[in-house]
Amino acid sequence: MTVTENKTLPESFLPTLPGSAYSDPELFAREQELIFEQLWFCAVRSGDIAKPGAFRTVQIGRESILITRSRRGEARAFFNICRHRGAKLCTEDAGETQRAFQCPYHAWTYDLDGKLVAAPNLTKMPDIDRVEYGLRKVHVREWLGYVWVCLADEAPSFDETVVGAVRTRLGDVESLEHYGVESLELGRRITYDVKANWKLIIENFMECYHCATIHPELTEVLPEFADGFAAQYFVGHGALFGEDVKGFTVDGSKGLDRIPGVSEDQDRRYYAVTIRPQVFVNLVPDHVIIHRMFPLAPGHTIVECDWLYLPDVVAEGKDLTKSVELFHRVNQQDFDACERCQAATDSRIYADGGVLVPSEHHIAEFHNWVLDSLKPRA
Ligand code: FES
Ligand code: FE
Repeated sequence: MTVTENKTLPESFLPTLPGSAYSDPELFAREQELIFEQLWFCAVRSGDIAKPGAFRTVQIGRESILITRSRRGEARAFFNICRHRGAKLCTEDAGETQRAFQCPYHAWTYDLDGKLVAAPNLTKMPDIDRVEYGLRKVHVREWLGYVWVCLADEAPSFDETVVGAVRTRLGDVESLEHYGVESLELGRRITYDVKANWKLIIENFMECYHCATIHPELTEVLPEFADGFAAQYFVGHGALFGEDVKGFTVDGSKGLDRIPGVSEDQDRRYYAVTIRPQVFVNLVPDHVIIHRMFPLAPGHTIVECDWLYLPDVVAEGKDLTKSVELFHRVNQQDFDACERCQAATDSRIYADGGVLVPSEHHIAEFHNWVLDSLKPRA
């Protein structure tokens, strides 16, 4: 894949990726292998596996990954594959087990740390190393109330690649810490089944050239978005709420209780951070919205979006409808746009791709990052 040289391009335009970059199965397989199976991937919410034995299975790159919590309360992640004859161990998306995972094929059984603890007739078999034949482990970190996993043999530095993205966008990590994200509670989760390539979703999130056209509610609340210059590329800049706007809600009415750590200069502002390869974080004074993408096929991405509030707000059952509705609409508007683009990526008219106008130029840096990530390593 290359960015096509186009001599006819005016100076203020940059080329996009070619259409095939969004639909070619071979390229997608390389992205799965060299991006999603190599980098830290934000997999599940810590609260989704709150108790020992609670589990979720998720698709990361080409692999099914089983994520659970040990008896000591530590998050654990494994390739979801039985070490006997390779059956998929856990076939449910989520659930809870008392103390072990039992393979539905010949009943090999693994404890919550992945150790092989039982196999029918094992005593008649030659001694087997129960750790060696335990579940194959995946690197795990918990941060911001989420379980992050890395499938690479050697994980890249979490601080540089994940926390570093926050520093790049907000200027420091302290400004994020003000929101106390790890102590917030899940108020609402919506899962979107998007028929579009994951890169289209990231590109869309990175620019606001489209905001005036497709986000009427959002631009009412954040008037500066109407001019097309998203806050995304000014380090530390948060978009200010409109003068008459009382909260980050679908009609600008008052939101929920403000998160106490949010500073005066963060109040009445919206911040957005992209953590490559698959996370978007939105910060507003009374809640935090976290999107996790699960790319499944060149033209198919699942997006799980969580709205997080102060624990009291959730416990007291406060009405979140207007609060959730604003970004839910934004998501629908964005994903509709991405799907319209996806449908055209196979057209011969888009074989050479399109153009990035000046307010989208920073997307070229994302394209270069993808291209670099796919280069063969020495
Ligand atoms: Fe799992 Fe045989 S494949 S026990
Ligand atoms: Fe948008």
